[in-house]
Amino acid sequence: MNYPTPHIKATPADFGQTVLMPGDPLRSKYIAEHFLENPVLVNNVRGVQGYTGTYKGVRVSVMASGMGMPSIGIYSHELYNAFGVQNIMRIGSAGAIQPDINLKDIVMAMGASTDSAWANQFHLAGSFAPICSYEMLRAAVASAEEVGATYHVGNILSSDCFYGDDEGLPAALDTNTNWRKMGIMAIEMESAALYLNAARYHKNALCICTVSDQLVRKEYLSADERQTGFEEMMKIALETAVKLEK
Ligand code: HPA
Repeated sequence: MNYPTPHIKATPADFGQTVLMPGDPLRSKYIAEHFLENPVLVNNVRGVQGYTGTYKGVRVSVMASGMGMPSIGIYSHELYNAFGVQNIMRIGSAGAIQPDINLKDIVMAMGASTDSAWANQFHLAGSFAPICSYEMLRAAVASAEEVGATYHVGNILSSDCFYGDDEGLPAALDTNTNWRKMGIMAIEMESAALYLNAARYHKNALCICTVSDQLVRKEYLSADERQTGFEEMMKIALETAVKLEK
């Protein structure tokens, strides 16, 4: 695939081998300005700000994914196929559906179950199990231990629906309850497409999320709390990027 692409006006040399992907373009800018040394803006198509700088001497990029699987599907496809990026680490937020996972905890998605049809494009005669890169997960777990974070590793749900339409349904049909029974830790909206693209193009991906919503107890982080939970996740993500470079 040639560059520039329809959504990224840059060159391969503009990106580090690891790209951190928050959903929100403003968060990408915040990360670049607060966590990277000498950040340079490398993409701004559609306001999807991408920066490359250094952290502990390692070149690291950060670019927003937008919300949902079609959006992260586009950006990860282009980063992997046109810009030579090896590792994409989604750094997002998620809604926990297990009672023992609390607000501000970190969830690391070893697997990403999904209600999306993203895999259909690959013409597989069965269901593919989207999983993260073991190398990235191992580095992220080691980093979470160093930081002293409370973290959970397991399966998440990447859903196409933020709102859903479960109100008034019999309990047996409640979407979150049924995924909870299968051990799903939390719900977000991007990882399955990212993991599927990484598998198809022989690249590496991992999603780590801060729990911003506890959907069982209907608890939600305040804006300030979101920020502190986010700082811990950033330390884990950046230390993981350093480990991957070695
Ligand atoms: N659902 C989907 N994505 C999310 C949620 C949620 O409750 N919270 C944060 N991201």
